[in-house]
Amino acid sequence: MSGSLPPPPQGAAGWRPFMRLRQWGRRSIQARLVLALGLLAFVSLAAGGLAWLGLSRTEQALSRDHAAGLSDLRQVLGLAERSARLAAEAPALARSTGEGAAVREAEELRAGIAELRALAANLPESIRANAAMPTDVPAIQRLAERLEGILDHLMPVVAEQVAIGRELSRHREALVGALQSGEVTGGAASAQGAQRALALVSRVFTAETPAAVEALWAGFREERERLGGMPGAAILDEVAPLFDLRIRQISAGNRIQVFLAAVERAAAEFSAGIRSLADAVERNAIRRSQATSAELTDGKLALLAGGILSLLAAGALATVLMRNVARNVSGAAQALTRLAAGDGDASPPGLGRDDEIGDLARAFQLFKAQAAEREELAGQLRQAQKMEAIGQLTGGIAHDFNNLLAAISSNVQLVADAADTTPQQRARATRALDAVERGNRMVQRLLAFARRQPLAPQIVDINHLVTDLAELLGPGFRDIVLTLDLDPEAGRVRVDPGQMEQALLNLVINARDAIQGEGRIVIETRLSAEGMQGRTVRVCVRDTGKGMSEDVVRRAFEPFFSTKPFGSGSGLGLSTVYGFVRQSGGEIAIDSREGEGTAIAIDLPRAPITAAGGAGRDGASAPLREPSRNEAGRILIVEDDDAVREAAMDVIRSLGHEAQAVMSGEAALRRVGEHRFDVLFTDIVLPGGMNGFSLAEAARALDPALSVLCCSGFAHEAEAQRARRDWLGPLLAKPYATADLAARLDQAVARSRAVRAAR
Ligand SMILES: Nc1ncnc2c1ncn2[C@@H]1O[C@H](COP(=O)(O)OP(=O)(O)OP(=O)(O)O)[C@@H](O)[C@H]1O
Ligand SMILES: [Mg+2]
Repeated sequence: MSGSLPPPPQGAAGWRPFMRLRQWGRRSIQARLVLALGLLAFVSLAAGGLAWLGLSRTEQALSRDHAAGLSDLRQVLGLAERSARLAAEAPALARSTGEGAAVREAEELRAGIAELRALAANLPESIRANAAMPTDVPAIQRLAERLEGILDHLMPVVAEQVAIGRELSRHREALVGALQSGEVTGGAASAQGAQRALALVSRVFTAETPAAVEALWAGFREERERLGGMPGAAILDEVAPLFDLRIRQISAGNRIQVFLAAVERAAAEFSAGIRSLADAVERNAIRRSQATSAELTDGKLALLAGGILSLLAAGALATVLMRNVARNVSGAAQALTRLAAGDGDASPPGLGRDDEIGDLARAFQLFKAQAAEREELAGQLRQAQKMEAIGQLTGGIAHDFNNLLAAISSNVQLVADAADTTPQQRARATRALDAVERGNRMVQRLLAFARRQPLAPQIVDINHLVTDLAELLGPGFRDIVLTLDLDPEAGRVRVDPGQMEQALLNLVINARDAIQGEGRIVIETRLSAEGMQGRTVRVCVRDTGKGMSEDVVRRAFEPFFSTKPFGSGSGLGLSTVYGFVRQSGGEIAIDSREGEGTAIAIDLPRAPITAAGGAGRDGASAPLREPSRNEAGRILIVEDDDAVREAAMDVIRSLGHEAQAVMSGEAALRRVGEHRFDVLFTDIVLPGGMNGFSLAEAARALDPALSVLCCSGFAHEAEAQRARRDWLGPLLAKPYATADLAARLDQAVARSRAVRAAR
């Protein structure tokens, strides 16, 4: 009704964002989550793979180290065992008595040394190349060489000692033989001397040092010299080499001891070296195992750190994503709440995003647009309902007022027309009739608003109508320029031309009143594009006046609403235009802003080109407008309103007719059945089930020659129904002037008489 028409809804186009939801490749939250989880899974898998690789390599290194350590240990233990055996074998060499045994022992020692050399030469590279090892291979080789050197020196001494031992044994046997054979006996003195000398000889074998042997030798030599030449002295000479042999034996034994001590020292050195080698190997193994376990710990720590970092990264990513989603969703919820509270500017975040949040925001905007559209439609509906309700109320009041005015008018008319009325009374009656006429005009405007005014629509060229009106108005405005902006294509519409002019006049006067000082009024016509209801013609009155507030726009069509000072405006101008436009099948809208001017547009259906002038159907009433013969007739009045009925009776009788009156359709039918009437003069709205039309039909069934004259306050409604009964003449609109009633009654009486005469 007011404001410009809302734009068409977006329809499916507005939901296109949702269809795009299924498109792959867009940066949707789902895709981002999948990507984040994928990344996380990849990182976890990579970390797991790395851990697996690291552990396998560590395991390999461990077993390699283990094997190397074991082999090192085995080698070193072999060395240690061999050197220990060497140390044990050396003394056995010294103890060997026979030359064969000594040589065997020596050979064994040599073999042991060779074995040691081979073992040392075969020591693993880890030990050989390790500078930290306390004993290196060359040192072992040197030791072995030293041992062999000692053996080289030892062996001749051992052989010498064996030879001396053998010699000693031979002399000893000779001595024992001499002693047993008594060769040393003879004289007592010599025997004693020989005995002492031999005793000295036998002590040689137990003498430990060369000095002790020397001392024995000195004693022996004295005895031998004392016995010189005596029998038995020869044996002394025979055993004398024993002393020298014994000294050589002790000396050889001493040298052997020295060599053995050297062998033992070398063997001990060997053992100590090998022990420290074993210790070093063990330490090496321990160090390597410590390094490996440190590496393992580092690996574990790296794994742990990687796991924690991945978790933190995943947590941070998830938090950022969740925060982002939550912020946008709560932004949308807040916008929705604000929208629900009536804030039309509420707008959600993320409108430009190409993901679900963006979809949500766009859906919100769509929802907002539709809600605004619905709100506007609901406002328009409320306004239409309000106007409808006011229209019905106004119509009802106007109808009753009409009856009152009709009764007043008829009675005052009778008083004015009476023969005995004085001039003063006639003047008063005339003033009363003037007031009735003003009241009548107001009632007509109210009826117009209620869409109940009788209209005489015709096909009119809208541009001609507007041009004629402008010519009429033109000189009437001083500082205001009235211009026309006509669309030559506008064409024709079917309206009551008089009412249309009146409506445009109302709009122009309103525009003039809204312009203070200078201004411009434009009346424009336009032909719309082909729409749902065909093409429409728009007539728009535009001004540069003060405009209207929203509240005034909302109420402008209400009857009696006026912002003009008391007495200047009735507030019925726009309501009349509104009722007329709607009754003519058109629409009216206001587009106005305070301080900017107003445009009021009337849209009317365009009349088909083929339609001829508007006289068509109205022309059907032409035969009724025959010159009246002014015959007195018998009139049956049907009217439920007492005052109107009485007044009608008086007026009709004063016109020279015979009149009877009833209050309802049923009573009327009974009268028609009983008497013959020329005219049935009935109101359309009657109490009971019958209205004026159905009464007319029933009465004509009883008496086909009966003329019917219908009158009504709701001329337009009744007119529509009458049109379906073309045997009825045009309605007489209430309140009717006496002259009109007289003319119509004369026609009706004449027609009834003519019909009866023809039968
Ligand atoms: N062109 C306009 N510019 C500004 N306000 C307008 C215009 N037309 C109507 N109005 C407003 O609408 C109100 C109602 O108009 P309407 O024609 O129904 O009554 P009125 O002009 O006040 O009285 P009347 O028409 O009986 O002289 C006006 O009082 C005015 O406030
Ligand atoms: Mg007005």
